[in-house]
Amino acid sequence: RIVTSIAGKSPVAVAVNTAAKAGEWIKSKLGSYENLEEKTSSQDLVTEVDQGAEKLITNLINTYFPNHAILGEESVEPGPEGAKRALEKMRNEEYLWIIDPIDGTTNFVHGFPFFCVSIGLVHEGELAAGVIYDPLRDEMFVSEKGKGAYLKGRQIRVSRELRLSESLMASGFPPQDRSDRHLQKFTEIVPKVRNIRTSGSAALHLAYLAAGRISGFWEPSLNVWDVAAGVLLVQEAGGRVTDLQGNPYTLETTDIAATNGHIHDELLKCFKNYYD
Ligand code: IPD
Ligand code: CA
Ligand code: CA
Ligand code: CA
Repeated sequence: RIVTSIAGKSPVAVAVNTAAKAGEWIKSKLGSYENLEEKTSSQDLVTEVDQGAEKLITNLINTYFPNHAILGEESVEPGPEGAKRALEKMRNEEYLWIIDPIDGTTNFVHGFPFFCVSIGLVHEGELAAGVIYDPLRDEMFVSEKGKGAYLKGRQIRVSRELRLSESLMASGFPPQDRSDRHLQKFTEIVPKVRNIRTSGSAALHLAYLAAGRISGFWEPSLNVWDVAAGVLLVQEAGGRVTDLQGNPYTLETTDIAATNGHIHDELLKCFKNYYD
């Protein structure tokens, strides 16, 4: 069982507490943010609530673990190159926290109720803990390496579908990739699956996959903070995460395929010539 007492300074307990505090604050700001800025385009947004939540999270983690490194989306230069450079710089830290203060900023801005706080912890290069909190539904998804995945304290597992034809899938349209090949793949996959959701939060989609609410998820051009916590949740819930060619997930993986395991090869088959 995952320990959630903060007294022992367990990193997971700190992550859970921090996500809860940040989530509550973000929820209180829904519909009342004041500054909306475009980062790389009108599809890539940031508000003072994203920035404030990242500060809150960083300060809390620093209080408990002053020697740990923290990589947060809003402290990194916008665009894929900035993300890559930041990860390269911090990758070899013994403890590295990977933060997405609001995953689903576009939803937050429009008042579409699907966003979360995502906090991952990497220890010596390996995912060690992952916490995703949906403040609107008060759903806390928690995973620790080797200890399983939990939602509100109950263990969760991926779903059982064996074929794409019976699968509920999720994907997304990242600001950095509206390429023809991504759109083309979408049209190819739609007729093969039961249905597809594109709800605007990669992290929450991964948490839903871990909880068995969807069967699989794919999306290209994601950043490490979109997926780090969610990847561990999926793995600890019995699922599989690779890149779109089937290579095991690493922190550098940006094009993600994540499934309940059973449908993984069938999904990967759809991406056979993706990069040609
Ligand atoms: C975005 C969300 C979205 C995905 C984008 C991400 P943000 O993160 O995860 O679902 O399609 O690729 O950038 O900017 O809301 O934290
Ligand atoms: Ca963003
Ligand atoms: Ca994100
Ligand atoms: Ca974000």
